[in-house]
Amino acid sequence: MKRILILIPLILLSACATKKPVVASVAPGQKFNQLALTPQMGWNSWNKFAEKVNEQLIRETADAMVASGMKDAGFQYVNIDDCWQGQRDAQGFIQPDPKKFPSGMKALADYVHAKGLKLGIYSDVGYKTCGGRPASRGHEFQDAQTYARWGMDYLKYDWCNAEGLKAEGAYTTMRDALYAAGRPILFSLCEWGDNKPWLWATNVGHSWRTTGDIYNCFDCKIDHKTWYQWGVLQIIDKQEGLRKYAGPGHWNDPDMLEVGNGMAVNEDRAHFSMWCMLAAPLISGNDLRHMSKETLGILTNKEVIAVDQDALGVEGFKYSGNSTNSANDGVDIWFKPLSHDAWAMCVLNRGTNLQPVTFNWKNETVTDDLSKRAARFDTTTYKIRDLWAKKDLGTTTETLTAEVPGHDVLMLRLNKM
Ligand code: GLA
Repeated sequence: MKRILILIPLILLSACATKKPVVASVAPGQKFNQLALTPQMGWNSWNKFAEKVNEQLIRETADAMVASGMKDAGFQYVNIDDCWQGQRDAQGFIQPDPKKFPSGMKALADYVHAKGLKLGIYSDVGYKTCGGRPASRGHEFQDAQTYARWGMDYLKYDWCNAEGLKAEGAYTTMRDALYAAGRPILFSLCEWGDNKPWLWATNVGHSWRTTGDIYNCFDCKIDHKTWYQWGVLQIIDKQEGLRKYAGPGHWNDPDMLEVGNGMAVNEDRAHFSMWCMLAAPLISGNDLRHMSKETLGILTNKEVIAVDQDALGVEGFKYSGNSTNSANDGVDIWFKPLSHDAWAMCVLNRGTNLQPVTFNWKNETVTDDLSKRAARFDTTTYKIRDLWAKKDLGTTTETLTAEVPGHDVLMLRLNKM
């Protein structure tokens, strides 16, 4: 009898290993819980290459992620965005575009894994992706199974062509499909904040986009008639009120990075700093094979990255400065509580003119109701570290005076003495 009992699961298991889609009797869903305990770090093809993605680019990007030192700095996921898809086969299984990915996805995953990195893929809730390729509607379980079989580690799941779908249901279906497929795949919701995913996605995905797409500019809004793209400042302002929803395993995602894609170095630095203050996923979006010294210096500043990756997992907040959407000509001061009673502080110059900054610590008390933390500078002294200059600046017993160039930041770490 015992033997029969052992055999039945084995038969079931071997049936699962064949190419048949599994649709029946899925256990009540959940997400994989041990992923993205700090915000995910990696690269994605879209911001720089859009539909021009292929296996050579992915291989070379994986090579560059290791050779450049980005892997050492914590970057791990190499993510293929839209337009990798070919057609579905006769049984409905999605195939990669044979011209772009002639060796197939399994071989690509093996290559990326051999470098100690992880591979990610992209799909969409509709019948077609934003780029018009076949998407997952009606094929969710089959696609999740295919991604797992290929060895994927990450799925970005988009929201184009979603007519008739409810966001929570559509994303929960794919979460359940991924869970049923059995491979821990980080699930990145790309729903642009349209249906307030922060209210319902804590147990659905590991991150959710909070806004429409980023545009490669510091302060702008691009009108595409039916949709907008947003500059760095505009995206920062849209995060207001959302920090309480983020935490280990479920992050607000203000979109992928534009560092190295054409903004000025100071703007890239401010963009990267603020994404770290926001505990955002750090998904680089530039050509890793050809980076300037400055771009690489920004992307691999480990002390700045440590602010993003801090184990406390609490998003920063604006302590003082402009109210949302006011004229972009002043400084905002942000604080982020860190583990070991430390804090990060970021002075963001929103305007284009150099701004003098004076901060008399003794007159300031920073309190955070969310983390129940307070920095009482009148009674507690902190050592100050300038994270971009990479030097110590004394302590909070002396008034801080600095000048912050336009569209730049002063980013500090305060360690309790
Ligand atoms: C949407 C997403 C982008 C990108 C494109 C691909 O616009 O928000 O990040 O994935 O689709 O078509």
